[in-house]
Amino acid sequence: MPGVFNLSVDEAVKEVRATRALGVLSIILFGLPEKKDEVATGAWAEDGIVQRAARAIKSEVRDVVVMGDVCLCEYMSHGHCGIVKAEPQSLGAAAAAPPATAEYEIVNDASLELLARTSVSLARSGVDVIAPSDMMDGRVGAIRKALDGAGFENTPILSYAAKFSSGFYGPFREAADSAPQFGDRRSYQMDPANVREAMREIELDIEEGVDMIMVKPALPYLDVIAAAHRRFDLPLAAYQVSGEYAMIEAAARNNWIDRERVMMESLISIRRAGASMILTYYAKEAAKLLA
Ligand code: PBG
Ligand code: ZN
Repeated sequence: MPGVFNLSVDEAVKEVRATRALGVLSIILFGLPEKKDEVATGAWAEDGIVQRAARAIKSEVRDVVVMGDVCLCEYMSHGHCGIVKAEPQSLGAAAAAPPATAEYEIVNDASLELLARTSVSLARSGVDVIAPSDMMDGRVGAIRKALDGAGFENTPILSYAAKFSSGFYGPFREAADSAPQFGDRRSYQMDPANVREAMREIELDIEEGVDMIMVKPALPYLDVIAAAHRRFDLPLAAYQVSGEYAMIEAAARNNWIDRERVMMESLISIRRAGASMILTYYAKEAAKLLA
């Protein structure tokens, strides 16, 4: 990811301070743990990297809304967003050959427990908005219940409600070393061809008590953003993902396009489609131009 870096806690505080000074009101944290395992310990540990960063940022930067991405893939040795149950024969052979698709299963309900635990741990560390990106069924309800039970009734949930199984996440997965070691995410992320399913997924999150919804990726799914904007009254966010950013950067570096112009045009298109919040790697630069 040209121009985008993994930061230590100290560096993250500096970066957030600079970003906030440019007029960006809110940031989102993703974690890259030292060790990955099969229960995503790094996601929910009290001294996890995001927990530490959130505490430092909230104590050192005034007036910034800190969102926390909630998923398990960056913390799982196998890179899936939920708990994996493999057939005994493939488990034994795991080192030699990864299990074929038919030989493993993402265990939805057990994963909910870890996602809820992660969310409460982030809220305790000062994270203002919980943003689940895992796409397990029932996660908003499970997270809401856990937050309420731990005294965080006022902590809102921004769900990645319509998250498509997309090639545009490539650069992020490489940066976070979170590509699935076997299989793919198609059993829990959405089919790029299906806009009605996207509406249904958003509806389910709303029924479970979500406060804000997000569509991801953004540019290849502007129709989905527009449809969600027409249909639902909740605040709507869109995520301009790593591959969208990388394409613009690559073309600009070849002098094929005018970087700033295309950056702003892509952000405006997302706004025009109906998103009132945009999650983007261009936040700092766009804020500079808009100032
Ligand atoms: C984790 C997660 C991903 C992204 C955000 N949260 C990767 C994925 O689902 O594979 C992608 C972000 C980006 O590409 O910028 N579930
Ligand atoms: Zn994930």
